[in-house]
Amino acid sequence: MNTSGSPGARLAVYPGSFDPITNGHVDIIERGLRLFDRVVVAVLRNESKAPLFGAAERVQLIRDVFRDRPGLEVDTFDGLLVDYAASRGAAVIVKGLRSIADYEYESQMALMNRRLKPAIETMFLMPAEPYAYTSSRLIKEVCRLGGDIRGLVPPLVEDRLQRTFAAARDPLNAPRHV
Ligand code: PNS
Repeated sequence: MNTSGSPGARLAVYPGSFDPITNGHVDIIERGLRLFDRVVVAVLRNESKAPLFGAAERVQLIRDVFRDRPGLEVDTFDGLLVDYAASRGAAVIVKGLRSIADYEYESQMALMNRRLKPAIETMFLMPAEPYAYTSSRLIKEVCRLGGDIRGLVPPLVEDRLQRTFAAARDPLNAPRHV
């Protein structure tokens, strides 16, 4: 089944927590869009991991960053990634690979996913060097502790993070919608 819009169009799923999207993720999405007709950014609805942002908010941030970019779709999923990818008619799962530290875990997941659905291939893309050492987790920690995260996340995500942590520090003065 191909649900990518046109018969034979090449569709890739790029899964993750995206809590929140970083410039490293943006870099991988841009590379994916150059390689595939359509990229579905699939946000894991992992409420059990207690994400900073709910799934709907994470999706909205990604949509705001890419603003109706042709070829890009943002969706949520839970359950097995390979089941979601198959339901979308994707033959490829795109993952970012930053360093050797990522390799061990990512290769385990890729091989497990291949065992579960041999027809779906995992393709690893390397982000640009400045993003090789960044992650959503580190960026949140640096921002929470007052460090400079400019250039590591899109400006609207930086603003969202700053306001979220400001609200946590000083709930009385927080904007009411935070
Ligand atoms: O951004 P993350 O948190 O590193 O993304 C991890 C993700 C969502 C790709 C991974 O947790 C995943 O695929 N979860 C879906 C559940 C699943 O399929 N598990 C088996 C993987 S072998």
